[in-house]
Amino acid sequence: MRDILIIGSGAREHVLAYSISESDSQNRLYCIGSTVNPAIKELCYDYTVGDITDVEFILQSITSWNIGLAVIGPEAPLSTGVADALRAEGIPVFGPDRSLARIETSKSYTRDLLETIVPESSPIYQVIRNEAEAEKLLGRLGDYYVIKADGLMGGKGVQVAGDHLHNHQEALSYVKELLQSSTQCVIEEKLIGQEFSLMTITDGETSIHLPAVQDHKRAYNGDKGPNTGGMGSYTDTDHSLPFLSEEDIVSARELNEKVIGALAEDNGKPYRGVLYGGFMAVDDGVMIIEYNARFGDPEVMNLLSVVQTDFSELFYQAAVGTLKEVTIDLLPKASVCKYVVPEGYPTVSNKGAEIDISKIDDSCRLFLGSVDLKEGRLVTGGSRTAACIAIGDTIEEAERIAEAQIRRINGDLFHRDDIGTTPLIELRIKAMKDLRA
Ligand code: AMP
Ligand code: GLY
Repeated sequence: MRDILIIGSGAREHVLAYSISESDSQNRLYCIGSTVNPAIKELCYDYTVGDITDVEFILQSITSWNIGLAVIGPEAPLSTGVADALRAEGIPVFGPDRSLARIETSKSYTRDLLETIVPESSPIYQVIRNEAEAEKLLGRLGDYYVIKADGLMGGKGVQVAGDHLHNHQEALSYVKELLQSSTQCVIEEKLIGQEFSLMTITDGETSIHLPAVQDHKRAYNGDKGPNTGGMGSYTDTDHSLPFLSEEDIVSARELNEKVIGALAEDNGKPYRGVLYGGFMAVDDGVMIIEYNARFGDPEVMNLLSVVQTDFSELFYQAAVGTLKEVTIDLLPKASVCKYVVPEGYPTVSNKGAEIDISKIDDSCRLFLGSVDLKEGRLVTGGSRTAACIAIGDTIEEAERIAEAQIRRINGDLFHRDDIGTTPLIELRIKAMKDLRA
């Protein structure tokens, strides 16, 4: 039995808290969150609310607790050095130190690192500091470019040619907008193919690879609309995805291992936590879109539902550097996860609106995300509200269950009803076949 601290209060942290509380070792849970997530609170022995990026506040909050493992959910506390501070107190931490978390927090750090270790798997890119530089690179990339804010934007700072930007004039005005609030942004080559995520739990030496997952970043059906934090995701029974080859999975795993090695070398200490590789399966292999220093949300829900191994043990062994002693068991099931989000998300979300989750039954698991309690009523917090995750013998079966349940959540909300459906997956398989023909 351990006293385990979870930092964060979104759906991802609800999943982590739930899976740890399900473990055999009867851990006692503590949480420091930025809001009251009633579902996490219910699982906790103690719960504190405040600024989770404030290192002093975190250290003060734990003075009367006897924490034996800290699990950091979101990237924001990693970016301010919360992991470093807890480690300095002698607490085993699942989550990388600030310098290592740059693999997520700085797109330019990441591209520079990738350029030295795996240049063939990283798209053409450049850090842009003025419009003239942008104009020159856009001239080289033609119609195939993506423009990204250089910092943490929750998946929303990215605009893609053809989808969000329709000519170089629009591209330059987005660059101008980004350079007004930051000294730099990034322009890179647009990759064509199918996206997937592959996460690896590591203590810096041993790597345990998790199933490949496909998230859906666009807000609306048919992959239309603005980029979001992710509207839903699925995994297949074989822990790959229907449009990927075995070589794609091997390549993604190898890339993650190379990055884990390079991060240790570059920073002089091991990366302990989970490394999230965001990939594009392209015509001749796998290319890297991005790296994150934490679990993907919603992807973590798919992973939780098929990983049989005690999560708290996985996290602890990774945190103390003995991951080689753990093996992972996976259930041969498919999974589908769907999020409901407030009307207007991600641009101007309806915040503080009441939601009703009482109609959900136990054929799927419900995780609460950006919610709050107002006078005892559950209300939207502005970002992704709640997710249903279902498993099945096929993706189709899991989708049917998740869709039926997500429809039972009432409120001023919407969701994507195409995620995990056969027509959408068939489109993805065909697109991949055509690309690789
Ligand atoms: P990121 O925040 O880097 O994950 O980007 C958000 C989303 O933008 C990704 O999930 C992709 O859908 C898209 N995207 C980012 N970079 C690229 C790229 N180089 N080529 C094509 N699409 C991209
Ligand atoms: N689902 C995308 C992310 O967690 O970054």
